Amino acid sequence: MNDTNRQIVLAQIPEAKLAESHFELRRGDVPSPGEGEVLLRTRYISLDAANRAWMQGATYRSALSAGQVMAGGALAEVVESRAGHLTPGDLVFADTGWQDYAVLRAGRLAKLPATQPVSHLLSVYGVAGLTAYFGLLKCGRPRAGETVVVSAAGGSVGSLVGQIAKIKGCRTIGIAGGAAKCALLTTELGFDGAVDYKAGDTRRALRAACPDGINVYFDNVGGDVLEACLFNMAEHGRIACCGAVSQYDGAPPAHGPRGVPGLIVTRRLTLTGFVVMDFDDEREAALADLKSWVESGALKVREDIFEGLESLPRALVGLLAGDNVGKRMVKVV
Ligand SMILES: NC(=O)c1ccc[n+]([C@@H]2O[C@H](COP(=O)([O-])OP(=O)(O)OC[C@H]3O[C@@H](n4cnc5c(N)ncnc54)[C@H](OP(=O)(O)O)[C@@H]3O)[C@@H](O)[C@H]2O)c1
Repeated sequence: MNDTNRQIVLAQIPEAKLAESHFELRRGDVPSPGEGEVLLRTRYISLDAANRAWMQGATYRSALSAGQVMAGGALAEVVESRAGHLTPGDLVFADTGWQDYAVLRAGRLAKLPATQPVSHLLSVYGVAGLTAYFGLLKCGRPRAGETVVVSAAGGSVGSLVGQIAKIKGCRTIGIAGGAAKCALLTTELGFDGAVDYKAGDTRRALRAACPDGINVYFDNVGGDVLEACLFNMAEHGRIACCGAVSQYDGAPPAHGPRGVPGLIVTRRLTLTGFVVMDFDDEREAALADLKSWVESGALKVREDIFEGLESLPRALVGLLAGDNVGKRMVKVV
């Protein structure tokens, strides 16, 4: 075991765009677990768009403050256990933050099954996979033959949403930034079409890509892209409200999406917000489906792995700028 604990601290709360300079590396002692606690060593730390949202205020977790270890989920190994159900070597998913070691209460931690590659526990078999699965199937409720649109389609959640919709027999259109990412959606991930929201009139491009309207829109970004989708929804369309990446990294937009509530009324739309934990009771069945699709090759898993704890700030700043494809994480070495 190393005798120091490297920690990435959120030194300043950003007032506009997040930069690497908002973080600092600090070294501390490796903590010791008390009764009912475990000492964890992080192996893969998850990068999530929500990391930035936590700096803006309370969400489904409390807001971050300057000077604290940057929060984040990780795949971590038990190094020392003072809890009956976990032993050294076990892998868990835990809210460790951006550091080598963390001591946590063991009560809510569960040993994860042996999985190859182990990084899949953070992507398709982790929050991203479950969010895509439940958000699409429980909130979007797609039927075979319908048109499903997803934004941030090259990202960790979005890339899985499009493929699951395809598995369910839908026509899938991804919205992403840039020609290269859009090409990847159709050539590698099986989307039927792609719209580049950075290329101009998204509303018009969506109308061309979805001539019969959008039946299900899986919204990862909010803002202008949500507005463009609202104007293209088919009657009785469903919108699964997953997140709002367009509003996380900077000042809030001058206006909300237009067409609210008018389009919701006239097109009889349903908008459903959800948080992945809402579906914890159905987790095992979802994981079984995801596993069978991955093993059959129907679901391709894209991972985007950085190396080294020090790369975390760069990895998050880049993700918010859209330089990731699939699930971004940092392998702590
Ligand atoms: N509800 C839940 O339980 C739950 C759970 C997990 C995640 N989420 C949400 O899922 C969404 C995806 O998160 P993720 O962690 O998987 O990130 P991600 O999709 O892997 O990465 C974020 C992507 O957002 C896109 N983006 C950035 N700025 C944008 C803008 N202004 N407009 C449109 N797109 C923009 C970028 O792709 P481009 O190159 O396409 O711009 C970037 O790659 C987020 O909204 C997150 O909050 C929700």
